Amino acid sequence: MAGSTTPILALQNNLAMSKRLLEQRVFDAEQMHEIGIRLSKHFRAGDLIVLIGPLGAGKTTLARGIGEGLAVIGNVSSPTFVIARTHKRENSDVAMVHVDAYRLGSAAELDDLDIDFENSIVLVEWGKGLLEGVSENWLEIEIARDHTGESEVRELAVTGFGDRWSAVNF
Ligand SMILES: Nc1ncnc2c1ncn2[C@@H]1O[C@H](COP(=O)(O)OP(=O)(O)OP(=O)(O)O)[C@@H](O)[C@H]1O
Ligand SMILES: [Mg+2]
Repeated sequence: MAGSTTPILALQNNLAMSKRLLEQRVFDAEQMHEIGIRLSKHFRAGDLIVLIGPLGAGKTTLARGIGEGLAVIGNVSSPTFVIARTHKRENSDVAMVHVDAYRLGSAAELDDLDIDFENSIVLVEWGKGLLEGVSENWLEIEIARDHTGESEVRELAVTGFGDRWSAVNF
């Protein structure tokens, strides 16, 4: 009936608005790194960026490019021995925090890490998951690889959730 709102529609209205910002085929690791540099120029304090993709997809490769673009001090590597690593930067007090969420049980545990979200750029490597509740705004970067795992080609899809990303053009 016109004008009525079903419970399911009401629920959807509460979810963050999403917008596909970039789709790109990435042919090798060097190109993935360059895309990281390019994306990083739009990042600022308070941003939450989630990197989604299977093992060896290129999440850390992209994170390294983002780290270079943000002029972080020291190497960005897979945060294997710590769940979250804070990288200071050369020209900014806004740190980049790199989180390996594969080792977290739930999004709620991300909240428990006591990251200074407001004053940091937070990158989370994540197998698959939802971030509703942790933040109203986040950027999802999904990297897909072919089924055989032999090709170097990756499909990159960048989606913004919430107002923060609604007017960003990568
Ligand atoms: N197009 C590509 N983009 C990114 N990496 C690529 C590409 N082609 C080949 N590679 C290689 O794939 C590997 C990706 O490893 P990387 O550690 O970045 O993946 P990951 O998604 O972080 O994996 P993990 O799940 O283990 O954290 C690297 O060895 C990289 O050189
Ligand atoms: Mg990784």
